[in-house]
Amino acid sequence: MQTITRTRVARAVRPGGPDVIELSVVDLSPPGPGEALVRVEAVGLNHADTLIRSGDYAVTMPFPLDVGVEAAGTVVATGPEVVLPPGTRVAGTGWLGACADFVTVPAERLVPVPSELDTEAAACVAHAAAAAGALTRVWPVAGRTAAVWGAAGAVGRLLVPLLTALGAEVVGIASGDRVAVPRALGAAHVVDRSAGRVAEDVRAATGGRGVDVVFDPVASATFRTSLAMLAPRGCLVNYGQLDGPISGADFAELYRAGGVFVTKFNAGAYVSGYDDVRGLIAAGLDLAATRPGVVSPVAGRFGLDEVAAAYRALEAGAPGKVLVLPTRGGR
Ligand SMILES: NC(=O)c1ccc[n+]([C@@H]2O[C@H](COP(=O)([O-])OP(=O)(O)OC[C@H]3O[C@@H](n4cnc5c(N)ncnc54)[C@H](OP(=O)(O)O)[C@@H]3O)[C@@H](O)[C@H]2O)c1
Repeated sequence: MQTITRTRVARAVRPGGPDVIELSVVDLSPPGPGEALVRVEAVGLNHADTLIRSGDYAVTMPFPLDVGVEAAGTVVATGPEVVLPPGTRVAGTGWLGACADFVTVPAERLVPVPSELDTEAAACVAHAAAAAGALTRVWPVAGRTAAVWGAAGAVGRLLVPLLTALGAEVVGIASGDRVAVPRALGAAHVVDRSAGRVAEDVRAATGGRGVDVVFDPVASATFRTSLAMLAPRGCLVNYGQLDGPISGADFAELYRAGGVFVTKFNAGAYVSGYDDVRGLIAAGLDLAATRPGVVSPVAGRFGLDEVAAAYRALEAGAPGKVLVLPTRGGR
């Protein structure tokens, strides 16, 4: 087989918006011990990519920054100590610089893709599967009630069936027709947020008591609504900031909401190493392969020379997963 020595890679040359992304051609070293070289076939873009590229997030990275973390593709070469053979179809997250033709990845971050799942679908699910799996560990859910904002989004589509399987009674929140998604994935109740009375509707679904836990990826626009839908001593799990960070919060609000808890989710605090993360992703890929509706619809497909446009689509609120397909338009 031909040795791969160069790759195109999309690189943010400084912190900023999508315009800071440029396509470069760089040399590749052969994979070292514990590493694999993967031909990237589909990259799933994530909101966290945008936050990190902006340069003012809780996670800061050095620039220039090779963009993209979640992808699926095929192993083309391996270094010493790697068990997966070349030719294995793999997916995962934490593949730094995934927006590339080829990327060198620590083999511990590679998860084989089930044969029933196509490569694009795997790239839609891997990152969300790690997050959703870890989120189920934050607060006890068996026999309790749980509200899930963004229940028709990438994470929500996994979180709803995972919580349901653990014995939670789930209230799925989505907008308009999208409430059909959490309903089909096992939510006992759904709430259309476009009706503008989410807290009231969640309380009504729980006989007025409120939920034991709410999973909120939005932050600033939903923080107080989330507090208002909690039962006494319930927990608000914030795991994203789709609408900007929470500001101006006051401890007295937690008292008034019933002595509730609030946590800013850090996935690393709920997993023990990459073996554990691989297990969560493998479970999510299996669920996606067997359960219709778990995979977000693809809202846009872009080539490697269109990565800035792909991030613009994500940041404009694309109603589904935005993918970069390095083979589109030729390598
Ligand atoms: N911490 C982690 O480990 C981790 C990992 C993965 C993702 N995340 C975070 O999780 C969040 C969701 O990611 P995702 O990939 O699932 O995104 P997604 O597929 O875009 O879904 C998010 C959904 O949230 C809903 N939404 C958007 N704006 C809203 C608002 N202002 N109020 C209420 N609902 C709103 C939308 O659904 P409706 O219009 O149907 O309501 C949207 O589909 C992001 O903030 C992301 O950064 C965190």
